[in-house]
Amino acid sequence: MAPGSRLLALWALAALVLPSSGEEGDGGWRRGGPGAVAEEERCGVERRADLTYADFVQHYAFVRPVILQGLTDNSRFRALCSRERLLASFGDRVVRLSTANTYSYRKVDLPFQEYVEQLLHPQDPGSLGNDTLYFFGDNNLTEWASLFRHYSPPPFGLPGTAPAYSFGIAGAGSGVPFHWHGPGYSEVIYGRKRWFLYPPEKTPEFHPNKTTLAWLRDTYPALPPSARPLECTIRAGAVLP
Ligand SMILES: *[C@@H]1O[C@H](CO)[C@@H](O)[C@H](O)[C@H]1NC(C)=O
Ligand SMILES: *[C@@H]1O[C@H](CO)[C@@H](O)[C@H](O)[C@H]1NC(C)=O
Ligand SMILES: *[C@@H]1O[C@H](CO)[C@@H](O)[C@H](O)[C@H]1NC(C)=O
Repeated sequence: MAPGSRLLALWALAALVLPSSGEEGDGGWRRGGPGAVAEEERCGVERRADLTYADFVQHYAFVRPVILQGLTDNSRFRALCSRERLLASFGDRVVRLSTANTYSYRKVDLPFQEYVEQLLHPQDPGSLGNDTLYFFGDNNLTEWASLFRHYSPPPFGLPGTAPAYSFGIAGAGSGVPFHWHGPGYSEVIYGRKRWFLYPPEKTPEFHPNKTTLAWLRDTYPALPPSARPLECTIRAGAVLP
């Protein structure tokens, strides 16, 4: 793997709720109240709607992030992911929740319906990441196959790699703190996700057990320009690799 592909990604503010406007629909996931996170409107990541595979491999795959737009149509998958339909199909399935810290992931198993009704709330800025549980990854691909088979992945793969899927739903302001990542895509189905990215040679200062929201509030505002991350907010329909 080329070093450039190991971007340090902060899964920040994985807001499945809070779509920007009513037009695109919220699938019933929007729950008002506090916890809305300010959105950075400037996006430091290039957006491409017309990318060819050769372009992708040469200029982005191992070099820098890019946002792919309009390459796949996941409207059917999106409709199946509404709150009502997911609860009807998978409410009684047990899902595995993880803590939102960098190194040690405590796991808790809970029926999906209990997670949605009791734990899916905006991130409390006062709590610690290792005390915050959310549904991200650890998917039972067999039990959820009837849903996942409707997902169209981005068309560009990397030679010698096989995809692994990870599906999650979390409240406004939630996110995993900084961690290191190999090549991957992230697609938003409902809501939006704000990203903070550092190249592999630049490790930011962060506490592995604090939430991303606490980092955004306490550390981010004082960063000198040279220590700022690359940022972008991804909405439904855009894919960040
Ligand atoms: C979470 O981390 C804090 C500080 O790192 C620690 O004091 C606390 O015991 C941890 N909580 C759990 C549930 O492990
Ligand atoms: C996934 O679900 C199936 C069917 O309920 C079950 O037999 C299997 O053990 C589960 N796999 C994992 C990894 O939990
Ligand atoms: C973070 O939390 C984990 C588990 O709760 C704990 O074992 C570890 O010591 C904490 N790390 C720091 C740096 O406080």
